[in-house]
Amino acid sequence: MACCNSNTRRDEGIRVIAIDGPAGAGKSTVAKRLASILQCAYLDTGAMYRALTLKALRQGINLDDEDKLVELANKTSIDLEGDFEKLKVFLDGEDVSEEIRTLNVTNHTFYVARAPRVREIMVRWQRSVGSKKSVVVEGRDVTTVVFPNAYRKFYLDGNVEERAKRRIKELEAKGQMVDAAQLLKDVQERDEKDLTRKYGALKKADDAIYIDSTPLTAEQVVEEMLKHIKN
Ligand code: C5P
Repeated sequence: MACCNSNTRRDEGIRVIAIDGPAGAGKSTVAKRLASILQCAYLDTGAMYRALTLKALRQGINLDDEDKLVELANKTSIDLEGDFEKLKVFLDGEDVSEEIRTLNVTNHTFYVARAPRVREIMVRWQRSVGSKKSVVVEGRDVTTVVFPNAYRKFYLDGNVEERAKRRIKELEAKGQMVDAAQLLKDVQERDEKDLTRKYGALKKADDAIYIDSTPLTAEQVVEEMLKHIKN
């Protein structure tokens, strides 16, 4: 079964599988596995917002200044290279794959992502990827704004304590020191900001399939999604 593979007769044409959900729900893990199984591209939209945030932080730009952020976005190139096995993120040609995952970038990305004109630029870029090839895409607004007509749409949720635990594991595996109580607070704050912002807020699309990842392994989530993709 290769839903995303445009070489198969039954599945001719470009298809987008879109996954939204809060931080730590397991979107990246399952999106990469799905892309691998379906033999299609993987698009991490959060990585784009993170990369622009990194550049803004480096340049000391006031993150409340939308005009400055738009100006910056318009003269920035963000390339996602590689695939589900090893996605690399290039900011103006520099590999920033690791740096965009630091807590500092994580905690500031919201300010860049809330600017509507910055989002417009990002959405245009994301759609252009989805118009050229079949892709599994993940983010906060990919089922509602970026690809409302995606072939399948999922909302991957999860209990906040469990999601924070997953983040801690990920960061510790990368050798980062983590204050567990602080990280839980950060995830709760990020949820609140992502859910309540005016533009591109995280919400479940009416026709998205809801999956609670709390009691499930990543394999079980993928299995569940594949059932819906095959049907
Ligand atoms: O998915 P990830 O945790 O890397 O996203 C980082 C941040 O980027 C999110 O907390 C959110 O504020 C923003 N984001 C967004 N829209 C997306 C993807 C991410 O606003 N489609």
